Amino acid sequence: MQRQWNAQCANHWRFATEHRQRIMELIRQSTPASAGRVCILGAGNCNDLDLPTLAQRFSQTVLIDLDDEALQHAVVRQGVVDAPSLMLRGGCDISGVWDDLELLAAAPQDSDLLERIVQNAESPSLPGPHAPFDLVVSTCVLSQLIKGVVEVLGQEHPRFLDVVSAVRRGHLRLLFDLAAPGGQAILVTDFVSSDSAPEITTTADADLAGLAQRLIAQRNFFHGLNPAVVASLWQSDSRLAPSRGTLRVARPWRWDFGVRQYLVTAFTATKPVA
Ligand SMILES: C[S@@+](CC[C@H](N)C(=O)[O-])C[C@H]1O[C@@H](n2cnc3c(N)ncnc32)[C@H](O)[C@@H]1O
Repeated sequence: MQRQWNAQCANHWRFATEHRQRIMELIRQSTPASAGRVCILGAGNCNDLDLPTLAQRFSQTVLIDLDDEALQHAVVRQGVVDAPSLMLRGGCDISGVWDDLELLAAAPQDSDLLERIVQNAESPSLPGPHAPFDLVVSTCVLSQLIKGVVEVLGQEHPRFLDVVSAVRRGHLRLLFDLAAPGGQAILVTDFVSSDSAPEITTTADADLAGLAQRLIAQRNFFHGLNPAVVASLWQSDSRLAPSRGTLRVARPWRWDFGVRQYLVTAFTATKPVA
């Protein structure tokens, strides 16, 4: 399903212009002075990334996604197939529970399987000798991970919130674990769309923060992606707490997706040195 969605929006480069500029600006602000290595989680079609700039600015850029084909096509479209500093890691599940979620679709009441998913989702790891990175960026993949849970379990399932919370916590921990001491982690996430909030399409840029606040107060956001809850989790989780004082939350922006528009925000934190 992820592959089908990626194929449908592979040519969204132009739509994603403003979104890409915002992400690249966050990356620029967090780029270490001495090149360094960056890891992008959920890179997919890379329409939100300027790959030539990453290839030039970082000594190594590792692009990670389930969908290998989307990554392969992205480097062709952006003319960086031969860039030696780019490494593609397709076919890589960053949730740690994607296969189990597929099993759960056929057996949603299997309590042992549910328990295993909750446990494993909280501590995903990436196979392969990649970490640590100077910068780790998650580009609108958390909403997709949670969407997977919504589709498999449905929001009425008694353990729905447990699984969503575990996937969310695990993703934040993965970002943090992959960062080197002194390195930075950026979580970019969409949290509501014009499907449920049509005013996203007509609100002036300067008023998007106010709109986000109103939508949050009305509880109009994707499951598990209330930005205020994400920020408080980042500050309270035992494994993430060391970065507590460094957390910065970006002013929301719009991601034009053609058929709909999303509101997006970003959380940036620094991993302490000791
Ligand atoms: C909304 S897209 C992100 C946008 C993308 N950076 C772009 O510009 O096209 C989400 C990406 O997450 C990937 N994804 C979804 N679930 C995943 C998983 N469990 N592990 C790794 N990648 C996953 C999808 O294949 C997709 O490429």
